[in-house]
Amino acid sequence: MRLSKFTISSRLDLKIPLIDLSVQHKVLRKELQRAVQKVMDSQHFIQGDSVRALEEKTASRVGSKYAVAVASGSDALYLSLWALGIGPGDEVITTPFTFFATAGSISRVGAKPVFADIDARTFNLDVNRIESKITRRTKAILPVHLFGLCCEMDRIQKIAKRHSLFVVEDAAQALGSVYHGKKAGSIGDTGCFSFYPTKNLGGAGDGGMITTSSKSLADRMRLLRQHGSKKKYFHELLGINSRLDEIQAAILLVKMRSLDRWNSRRAKIAARYNSGLKRLPLGLPVTPPGFKHIFHLYSITTQKRDALAAHLEKRGIGAAVYYPSPLHLEPCFRSLGYRNEDFPVAEKICRQILSLPVYPELTESNQAIAIAAIQDFFHSR
Ligand SMILES: Cc1ncc(COP(=O)(O)O)c(C=O)c1O
Repeated sequence: MRLSKFTISSRLDLKIPLIDLSVQHKVLRKELQRAVQKVMDSQHFIQGDSVRALEEKTASRVGSKYAVAVASGSDALYLSLWALGIGPGDEVITTPFTFFATAGSISRVGAKPVFADIDARTFNLDVNRIESKITRRTKAILPVHLFGLCCEMDRIQKIAKRHSLFVVEDAAQALGSVYHGKKAGSIGDTGCFSFYPTKNLGGAGDGGMITTSSKSLADRMRLLRQHGSKKKYFHELLGINSRLDEIQAAILLVKMRSLDRWNSRRAKIAARYNSGLKRLPLGLPVTPPGFKHIFHLYSITTQKRDALAAHLEKRGIGAAVYYPSPLHLEPCFRSLGYRNEDFPVAEKICRQILSLPVYPELTESNQAIAIAAIQDFFHSR
């Protein structure tokens, strides 16, 4: 697998960076400072009112009964699988085209990630390829709503039901994304979100959230995130420390008020890219009927990916490759025995994908410059 040298070109010195958090910060600076100051003055840093409020607001926004705040999106996945009782000897079916944490969490509970290839148009798990991967050991399906577009959840839920499997939604990139009237994170047994700073709802550090409508699962995850303890120094289970800090929760509560507006801005920017790029020999992101894509990333495909990325960088425009290598070929998964060409669609997309600047504050004029630069690239060839 050839690795692109443009894996990270989100350089901040570019005229139009891939993402620019500073504009958002300038607008919210005072509110954020007040929120942080309030926590500092209270000197209550762990498991307080802000975390509880963020859990309640996330649950109602997603449409699940409960939400459990944790230290990261990675831990949200790990604790979900753990709470579901998945461990050594079990298999979990997932996509090879995602951020590492998706499959990493499966291995961390001692289970085996089993990959299935993706759909070339949506970049999500190809539902037609799931059932042939099911064995006696399969315990769950872990679909990823990549770049902000939901997977085909009705079909995944049907397969899961037919084979008595759990479904853990990796919704780390999809807060606000909708599948036929249902929000990402409300459909499977649990939904896992990340508040990593560059996510559509990003904190000032790491953070995550698990949504579920099962009380027993929520209770178990609350125990596991706090060393198995509800009552101080009484440990019902062996757990870990994976809590979200009050300061992070206070920051996220301020930002959450803007989230719907930000998601709409992202969709508007995506629509402008779609129209400006539609006549070029490019693969553009699709949004099937009944889906609401929140465009955490706007990703195109082209066989000339590396040359296009170099051209954009020369023009001061940020672009990045998510993801340069599919997970089945990562060195740490060598023992799983996968080889090149096992998942040809995912491997091809890794060679062709390129993400363009998309963040709510990207101006129309800067986006027009980016679109013109891409048009120039193809017209000059
Ligand atoms: C698809 C996906 N899953 C899981 C994660 C892990 O989230 P975190 O970085 O908060 O641990 C991320 C974050 O990058 C992600 O994009």
